[in-house]
Amino acid sequence: MMPMLSAAPESPRNRAPIRRLVLIGFMGAGKSAVGPWVARALGWKFVDLDDEIARREGVPVPEVIRRRGIAHFRRVESKIGKQVLKRPYRVLSVGGGWAAQPGHMALLDGVALSVWLQVRPATALARIRASTLTRPLLEVKDPLPTARALLRERTPHYEGSRIRIGTEGKSPETVAREVIERAGPKVGLSLPESVAHDNKKGCEGST
Ligand code: S3P
Repeated sequence: MMPMLSAAPESPRNRAPIRRLVLIGFMGAGKSAVGPWVARALGWKFVDLDDEIARREGVPVPEVIRRRGIAHFRRVESKIGKQVLKRPYRVLSVGGGWAAQPGHMALLDGVALSVWLQVRPATALARIRASTLTRPLLEVKDPLPTARALLRERTPHYEGSRIRIGTEGKSPETVAREVIERAGPKVGLSLPESVAHDNKKGCEGST
């Protein structure tokens, strides 16, 4: 049975319905893989902020960073992120550095439901190695200490998320089911019993 959308609940802050869901987390957490599943379940559109940046800059994000520098990338990321957040009925996945930029997490207050997909540095690196997209910030001789330091520095920002979901040992589809189960009701999705039940069976414990 398909999950049903009911009237969106009101957020406590401004009493406007929450019509955006933002997937946050470190590189390799699976945000871009999980997002389309969640968007499909909600009947919303999926936007990957890095893809949007690449489209507007005319080159993939690693090239934007290499050719124009990280400061330029952060400016563009911030500007386009704010534009995308104005559009309702969107599941947005943001790059791992977005949440750690000043004022970004506060942009979500009362506007979007934030979901932090958690990953350990070693797992993140293994997933990144298996993917086609490079991450310039981790292109160093020994990336593990760099990944650990970056994650440590960003964790206080990620902790501002409303929902946390562990992704270790889970497929993107399994993580997506967990996101839909936990976040769906907060954005007006009513889940039939069977979905919630299947979901519990298919997941390892969240962290
Ligand atoms: C970055 C994460 C990347 C991308 C860029 C910078 C970061 O996105 O935005 O390489 O600073 O953590 P993913 O988190 O999707 O890998």
